[in-house]
Formats: sequence, C-alpha cells, structure tokens
Amino acid sequence: MCGIVGYTGGSQAAPILLEGLARLEYRGYDSAGIAINNGEKIDVVKAMGRLAVLCDKCGNGRDVPGNIGIGHTRWATHGRPSDVNSHPHVSENGRIAIVHNGIIENYAQLKEMLINRGRVFKSETDTEVAAQLIDYYYNGNILEAVARAVRELEGSYALGIICADEPDTIVGVKSHAPLIVAYGEDGNFFASDVMAVLNYTKTVSYLDDDEIAVVRSDGIKFYSPFLDEIKKEKYVVDWDIKAADKCGYEHYMFKEIMEQPEAVRRTIEPYIRDGRADLSDVLDREYIKNVSRIFIVACGSSYHVGVIAKYNIEKLARIPVEVVLASEFRYCDPIIDKNTLVICISQSGETADTLEAQNEAKRLGAVTLAIVNVEGSAIAKGADKVIYTKAGPEIAVATTKAYSTQLAVTVLIALYAAECRNSLSEDEYGIILKELLAVPEKMMKILNDKANIQYLAYQHFNNEDLFFIGRNIDYALSLEGSLKLKEISYIHSEAYAAGELKHGTISLVVDDTLVIAVASYGRLVDKTLSNALEVKARGARVMGITTESLKEKVAKATDEIITIPDTHEVLLPSLAVLPLQLFAYYVALYRGCDIDKPRNLAKSVTVE
Ligand code: M6R
Repeated sequence: MCGIVGYTGGSQAAPILLEGLARLEYRGYDSAGIAINNGEKIDVVKAMGRLAVLCDKCGNGRDVPGNIGIGHTRWATHGRPSDVNSHPHVSENGRIAIVHNGIIENYAQLKEMLINRGRVFKSETDTEVAAQLIDYYYNGNILEAVARAVRELEGSYALGIICADEPDTIVGVKSHAPLIVAYGEDGNFFASDVMAVLNYTKTVSYLDDDEIAVVRSDGIKFYSPFLDEIKKEKYVVDWDIKAADKCGYEHYMFKEIMEQPEAVRRTIEPYIRDGRADLSDVLDREYIKNVSRIFIVACGSSYHVGVIAKYNIEKLARIPVEVVLASEFRYCDPIIDKNTLVICISQSGETADTLEAQNEAKRLGAVTLAIVNVEGSAIAKGADKVIYTKAGPEIAVATTKAYSTQLAVTVLIALYAAECRNSLSEDEYGIILKELLAVPEKMMKILNDKANIQYLAYQHFNNEDLFFIGRNIDYALSLEGSLKLKEISYIHSEAYAAGELKHGTISLVVDDTLVIAVASYGRLVDKTLSNALEVKARGARVMGITTESLKEKVAKATDEIITIPDTHEVLLPSLAVLPLQLFAYYVALYRGCDIDKPRNLAKSVTVE
C-alpha cells in the first residue's frame, strides 16, 4: 500500500526521496509526489501514474531544491487516483505538508468541523483533513501541533509532516501502520519500510503506536503522546541492498523464484541441531505437549501455506488445526484458551488483518507465534514468539520465496511438535528431516528443467478461464497455483478439491477448458485421475503435475505433464509449487502483463 519516505541532511532531498520512492514502488501505488522545504516555503510536485511521470515533472528532483522533504506513493482509498488526490497534501495556507499511509476513519466529522471554521479543501482525501487539522493546532511548534492533532484521529496512520516555519524538522507519528526512522551518515530518514533507505543506511529504529519521532539532520528524538522524551533502540538490519536489486533478471518475480533453494536452506538451517528439528528456543517442549488446538491465521498466499500446514501438522503431530482467514478470524468469536496456539503467518509482518487477528488472539488468552519475513515488523513485535523466514527482501507483489520459506517453517513445526508429542516413528521422522534438507537441491532440479514449463505456458497463455484440481495437500497447493496465475496474468481461474468439481462447477467445463490436475500425492492419485478423466470426457485439456515415480500413470489420464522429483508426501507442495509459480510467470510474460506490479494490487496490505 502507500509508501512514505522523508529525508533531512546535507544533500539535496528530492533525488534521495525519488530514489526511496522507487524502492517502495513494490508496495503498489497509483500516483506519487514529493514536498520539499527550501527554507522559505514548501514546494510540492505530484503526479498520477508511475513514478517516472513524477520524475519527468520535476527534472528528476533538480527543479525542487532544498535539503529537507517528504515523499509518497499512493494506493487510492479515499478519492480516485488523480493529481489532486495524490500526496503530499498541504494545509490551505501552504504551511504544513504531510504524507500518510492508512485510513483516517473519522475524517468526515473532522472535515465538517474544519469547514465550519472556514477551512477550504481541495481534495477528496482523508489525508488533507489531517494536514488542515495539524495546521489548525499549529502555534509555533510543529511537534506540539502534531501531538495535539493526532489525539483526534481515529483509524490507522503513519504520517510524515514538514512545516514551512521549521525548516530542519520532520515529524513522524504512527498508529496501526508501519513507520521506521533511519540514521544516515549525511542526514536522517523516516520511511514505511527499510527498503526506502537501504542504499544509505542499515541502522534503524522502529516506532511503536502513538510514539512521535522528530527527525532532524543532526539526530532523531522520540516522544510519548504526552511529549515526554523517550529512548528507542537502534537495530542493524541484515538485508543487503544487492538482495533488493534485479541483478540482471527481467523481473523481480523471476529472480525471487530462482532464489528459493537458497532462501529455504537459510531459513531451516538455524533450526536443525544434532539431526533434529529443534524449535525449543521458540516453543517450549512442555507447552507443545499440552497444546490442545492450533489456529493458523493469515491472508492470501500466507493463508494457503496455512492450509497445507493443517494437513501436515495434523498428520504428523496429531494436533487439531483450524486455518482461518485473518479478516474473518477477527470477527468470528474464536474459541480460545491458554492451550490454544495461534500461528500468524505473514511475509510483510504488516498486514492489517493479520495484525489485528493476532491482537485479538492475545486478548483472548492464546499464545501467539508469528512466522514473519520482515524483522521488526508489527506482527513480529506483537507476537509472543517469532520464527523469521530468511527469504530476504521480496519485491515482486506475487510472493514466491516467502511462500516457500513459510512452508518450510511449518514442516519444522510439524516435526518438532510430533517429536514433543511422540506421535511419529523415529524412522519416518528421519526420512522427513532428510527430505526437508534435500528440498533446496530438488528445487534446483525443477528450476533447471523449466524449459518444459515455459513451453506449456506458451501453449496456454491465451486461455481466459481455467481450473486447478487436486486432493488433500494437492488441493491446498492448487489454491496457491490459482492465485499466482490470477494475480499476475489476470486469467480467471479457480482451485477446486478434485472430488468437489462435479457438485456444480463442472458445468463450466467445455471443449478445450484447461484443467491443471495437481496429482503428486501418491495415496490419492488414482482418485484425482478419475476426476481428471471426468473433465476430459467433457472436452477439457488436462495438464498433470506429478512426481517422477507417478508420471507414467498420470500421463495416461492427462494431455500434458510436468514432473517433480520424488519426496516425502509432506514435502510435495514445497516442490510442486515451483512449476505453478513458473507457469504463472511465463503465462503473464507472454500476455505482456506488468508482472512485478500487477494492477490494483499492493504488496503490503496495511488497511483492513
Ligand atoms: O505480507 P503477508 O504475507 O501478510 O501478505 C498476505 C497477502 O497479502 C499476500 O500473500 C498476497 O496474497 C500476495 N500477493 C500473494 O502473492
């Protein structure tokens, strides 16, 4: 969603802000803008569309001189994408400029109050209301004005504010939206996430809700909502700017697909000790023995990881698992006690629904475990326990390497819980662990054989409707295959439990409908193939995804086939997801889609 960045220091601010905004493009946006304080007044340049339009409009920053400024990429919520609705927004007198990520829920009442006091508004946004409100309370001290104004704001916000009368100060404040500050050599920063500043510094502090930061060129100070000065820890992030570059690949998504073997290896390695999956630093053995129920709560692809994890944890550890969409969990009155473990899965660690679901779980007395990729993110900070995936920065909107690392962590959890509860034979434990360690190498094999998948994508990129079917973990994986294709290629697809298709949806199958049958799970392959034959009998073309050892059988019931190496059944999705990601990628490529930044989508969904 919206990205924000601010800089004050010895250099020209505009080029630094534009570079920061380029690093935040991945969050998803439809317009962009910057505001620069040149010591006398604030100059604002903003433009609808891609960042390149803004860069053209301001001579790549040369036309707006000044050492302090704020920038924004907007993902429209209040008011359609347009120049006027773009951020930064300024107060009527031009004294205050702000950028905002989030939604101010009571903006209509505040706007009415300000209109009644003679203020005139230009845009349809909730953000302009915040700018006017801060100006309304401004009495010569921007920090005091911000502290006063935010007391009246309801909803979620991360705000960056500059004031024409205070030319070396940026104020940042947040509530339920991400905001960091960062310490550079030639000035200081604030931003929605570290990506924006990684080229300048890795040293950051994470703001908590309602805290206020005053960022100046010579230092950063922090205040409570009542303006008592507070101390914040500094952290050094372990991401490298190179990891956030395309490194010669045409798309981030493709680069990230190729990075999966290494990302999975990096993620599982710290938790393999003495030939065991050892999570005892995170989850107490006694506690796991007594867990009566697990909820897995997440959104999108992270939710799909949860669906697979349910099969695997129940199979290996015999703990009942319920997987709930985070946006539903918050309002479904879940039955929870102290023996309920709630696992929240999130790449960004900022997804609003997942964060609020986690808060709800804690409020109801559950122990919460977060599986998160971004260090210091709100979900990581709020959880009782955290396991970090080591996917590194994921820039493409469509997740790939984060998904695979999350999946690997859930297998570690299943193994560890099975050992604590004595629910798995030593032999099978050994086989699964060995196969988990072999996943990176087997992934490499699939990636090296990608030409066949590219060929099949070329055969099918003109389809406008297709189905993914599978049973058990193959069905759970189909959900992800379908989402991947939809989000980047804009082809309509649906994932169905193979046995369910004939209860209605098979009426949509006509001549040449493409059906992708994920048939890797040996125990149920015959049943899935019967369902494949049912759709073939109605004219469908069936593509099978299966293992080396099942390929002959699957080939007889399908028209085309993609194979993956054999592995233990709980790890099949870790391998079978790669062909699905590559298929979606190549289809989108042949359709000429904007693969890394699909329309309407945001990488971090920080509003409800
Ligand atoms: O950052 P999160 O894992 O919490 O994000 C959840 C979803 O928004 C995310 O997985 C989304 O579905 C991706 N675009 C899928 O590729």
